Amino acid sequence: MKPAGIALDSIWPTELRTERLLLRPVTPEDADVVRELLTDERVRTYLGGPALPERVAARQAAYPQTPGVWAIVRVADGRTVGLAGIGADPRCEGRAEVSYQLLPSAWGGGLGREAVGAIVGWWTAAVPDGGPVVAVTQAANARSRRLLESLGMVLIDELDEHGSQQCVYTPGGDHDDSDLRWLRLTASHLDEVERRRGAQARATAAGQRLPEDRTALTAEEAARLCPAHHGTYGRICAHAAGHTPALHLGRAPDGAWIAWLENFAA
Ligand SMILES: CC(C)(COP(=O)(O)OP(=O)(O)OC[C@H]1O[C@@H](n2cnc3c(N)ncnc32)[C@H](O)[C@@H]1OP(=O)(O)O)[C@@H](O)C(=O)NCCC(=O)NCCS
Repeated sequence: MKPAGIALDSIWPTELRTERLLLRPVTPEDADVVRELLTDERVRTYLGGPALPERVAARQAAYPQTPGVWAIVRVADGRTVGLAGIGADPRCEGRAEVSYQLLPSAWGGGLGREAVGAIVGWWTAAVPDGGPVVAVTQAANARSRRLLESLGMVLIDELDEHGSQQCVYTPGGDHDDSDLRWLRLTASHLDEVERRRGAQARATAAGQRLPEDRTALTAEEAARLCPAHHGTYGRICAHAAGHTPALHLGRAPDGAWIAWLENFAA
């Protein structure tokens, strides 16, 4: 499995066509639509609110240069009605994340569903070594969740991010080669990554100061440890409280040192 970013670089630029849409790489001429999407209250309700001008300008400049970012063009009138993207999921090495947003005037007609369906289908078929794909959307974003569920995507995880509950969806399906199988593969891949990072973090000066056996700590020393507790693996951080960067060093159930990043906020 290749990292999503590398898999993308090898096949970008790509255009996708559906019955009513053309998805093509963003160009500098899309700057107005980019601004509209990033500043529209309705579009930004579940995306952290309207973006500030500096962020808009940065995105207008970056999107045409970024593999995996498409303008969604409605073929009937040639208008750009939204943006969609696929790229490395910063939460999980080896996993891709799809994102999408349409101007409110284009909502309610199934265009979002058509665009996301095309991207997910393309990624799975044309980028077989690109790893599993997920969509992450706020639990409160009912429209977006309906869209994903109408494509047969299934909820596989929930997490707290940017202060809100987020739902993680991946394509369902009962075939052996479904993305759910890939997801399981990624879980073991993630374990490898955490172990590699753990060994690296243990080798640092701060890592060296940690006792081999946490039970050897006095109550006072234990109280000074970072309170982070990461539910997925039930691992407890063994670093000192308030440490930076937020790279948590802990122990896997078999005793191996592991490390993971607390917050991948983009
Ligand atoms: C998320 C978002 C793209 C969903 O847009 P949408 O237009 O509601 O979603 P769809 O494209 O799936 O369209 C769904 C509606 O079209 C209808 N529809 C589906 N296919 C259709 C078709 N071929 N013709 C006509 N109508 C159709 C459905 O019945 C559905 O109606 P409903 O919402 O009343 O149930 C849009 O709300 C948005 O851009 N939001 C802001 C950005 C965002 O939150 N993105 C998600 C996080 S990355």
